[in-house]
Amino acid sequence: MKILITYFSATQNTEKIARHTGQTFTTLGAEVTMRDITPPENRVPLNTNDFDCVVFGAPIHSWRAPRVVRDWMNTLEGKGKKAAMFFTYGGFGVHPCHYTTRKILEDANFTVVSSAEFPGAHTFNLGGWEAVADRPGEPDFAVAEEFARKTYRRFTGEDTGVPGEFEKTAFTDEFLDSIESYRFKALTQLPTREGRECTMCMVCGQKCPTGAMNPVTGEADSDTCIACLACVHHCQENALKINDMTGIWEAKLEMEKLTREDLDRKQSKIYL
Ligand SMILES: Cc1cc2nc3c(=O)[nH]c(=O)nc-3n(C[C@H](O)[C@H](O)[C@H](O)COP(=O)(O)O)c2cc1C
Repeated sequence: MKILITYFSATQNTEKIARHTGQTFTTLGAEVTMRDITPPENRVPLNTNDFDCVVFGAPIHSWRAPRVVRDWMNTLEGKGKKAAMFFTYGGFGVHPCHYTTRKILEDANFTVVSSAEFPGAHTFNLGGWEAVADRPGEPDFAVAEEFARKTYRRFTGEDTGVPGEFEKTAFTDEFLDSIESYRFKALTQLPTREGRECTMCMVCGQKCPTGAMNPVTGEADSDTCIACLACVHHCQENALKINDMTGIWEAKLEMEKLTREDLDRKQSKIYL
């Protein structure tokens, strides 16, 4: 069986889960191809004829798969192939990610046979948050392996089930879009070098999934930056920074009525 695993991963949490999932499929006898769709040049239409089944991995950005991932998924032709999805998230809202992503994939003519979610150090920890800082870790990798084993049985047809309905969101796309743009006003400012010393290695520009980061000026374009912080995460010299978000961290915990310990207790979950 030929399985394609596609994943978007700005700060490498989703990539770690993708690797554990892929290794398990390989030990089960599958021929696995990994495709990192973080670089824009890799978000090209898939030739689904080349694979029997496809796994889609993405971080959760404002309750959904990142906009660039949704846009790419909307270009796909599933041709009735089986698909699985998984998400990493920073310990806060997951809903309605499973529902909205399944809808996109099924509209593209894939049959979604499983889904999963895994806590992963919140991207905004780069600005001072402390959400699920050490995740994903060994217990999450064990769930990723179990997810791959169970999904494989569905891919081969040994298990013919599909997940039940995911909770449907009451929010409109317009509302969810507004949450996404609100982030730039209320949470993150644009990543910037602000004159800090830099060896001009250009990695920030190469790692930016939308071409928003100008590695020469060290400034990001406000229209195209999606605040994924790939540039800050990959900056070897620690020259790129996001704004200090420690005050917002306290407010966020209070608003969500959660403590840091509540977040640390979040478990990876499989949906079958
Ligand atoms: C713009 C943005 C929005 C996010 N929104 C959420 C969210 O709604 N809920 C949540 O729990 N985590 C959220 N996160 C955290 C990421 O989902 C989490 O850190 C993820 O593991 C990052 O994956 P990656 O390392 O593969 O990029 C958000 C991160 C970013 C950058």
